[in-house]
Amino acid sequence: MSEQPQPNTIGILKTPNDPRVCLLPKEVKRLTGELKLNILFEPGLGSSLQIEDVEYVQAGASCQTRESIFKNSDTIVSINHTFSEVEMKGGCCFIGIFNPLFHASKLAIYKKHCATVYSLDLLPRTTLAQSMDVLSSMASLSGYRAVIKAAEICNGVFPMFTTAAGTLTPVKILVLGAGVAGLQAIATARRLGAVVEAFDVRKSAGEEVRSLGATFIEVEGYAESANAGGYAVEQSKEYQKKQKDLIHNHILTANIVISTANIPGKKAPLLIEKRSVEAMQPGSVIIDLAAEQGGNCELSKNEETFHYNGVTIVGNSGLSGEIPAAASKLLSNNYFSFLKYKQKSEYQADDPLLTASQIMKEGEWTHPYFSKQLQPA
Ligand code: NAI
Repeated sequence: MSEQPQPNTIGILKTPNDPRVCLLPKEVKRLTGELKLNILFEPGLGSSLQIEDVEYVQAGASCQTRESIFKNSDTIVSINHTFSEVEMKGGCCFIGIFNPLFHASKLAIYKKHCATVYSLDLLPRTTLAQSMDVLSSMASLSGYRAVIKAAEICNGVFPMFTTAAGTLTPVKILVLGAGVAGLQAIATARRLGAVVEAFDVRKSAGEEVRSLGATFIEVEGYAESANAGGYAVEQSKEYQKKQKDLIHNHILTANIVISTANIPGKKAPLLIEKRSVEAMQPGSVIIDLAAEQGGNCELSKNEETFHYNGVTIVGNSGLSGEIPAAASKLLSNNYFSFLKYKQKSEYQADDPLLTASQIMKEGEWTHPYFSKQLQPA
């Protein structure tokens, strides 16, 4: 028979330079009430969203210094890595969105302190995990925000304008990668009246693209893998060359390019070459949502916006952070669902979601990616 879970203490940390908050008072109330957890939070946790500390206190949480949170919590939740070595206490459990397949070097500190680490971006994209799917929540908002941002920067209008003074043609947008972010970008751009073309290596994305009223661009000869969990896989050199040439031709007539193409754990595929940017009309915009993973555009710089030959290039994978109230609302539900699921399932061996999202347990690698690749020989 499985052991009964014991109530534990969860500390919620503020993430510097990120206005999003991983748990809002509404979900904290459910954690203290329904799940009977002790919740500690850092002063000013919700200040970026105009949420006062008293709202967390009314939800049953206790406001404490960072030092006290580290000392008294069994579990620390945060948006991402927000702590220094001096703050760490041995044996603590950390839950966040750590992008560990790409930032593996940041995990050493947890290992040294015998921590247990869950990264919510490793959860499988299955129905069971849907309510905890932070990747979909954030990608969807980033796709939406990318279009709004591009509209602010570009000097054209999205819909067709027919006036007595003449006709303004709609902007043309090219979306690269039609996953969660790309599809939301397409839907938003179409609602605003833009003409949209989209490209993805996954053939199945074509139907979704067309159903949103956009044109799907295809390159013959793509490879798909049944073992990739619905994700894209790296393509052959020949395919990549054909793809870059085709994208180059479509970029020539695009006013805005929104690129979202990613392959889990790998550098983002390079889809927009320097020659393509140089061929774009002055005033055009590239929003590269894959910037954190190396970028889809050869010229992108992560977390930087700059002009090149009259083209504005925005390298930002975290555009959901520009709409922090909406992002926090979704994250708070995702984190709550995970904590609730964890409390129910953590004493069952081989739970599919906990196993998939756990990187290490008490300092020992448990995730197959890390045990294979990072374990000293
Ligand atoms: P992602 O962020 O890893 O990649 C974004 C998009 O880029 C994907 O559509 C991918 O196919 C595409 N891509 C990769 N390499 C490319 C290249 N060289 N050229 C053009 N496009 C390229 O993926 P995301 O958005 O997180 O979604 C991954 C999959 O998971 C999708 O099939 C999505 O429908 C599925 N999913 C399933 C959910 C579920 O609940 N069952 C929830 C969310 C997503």
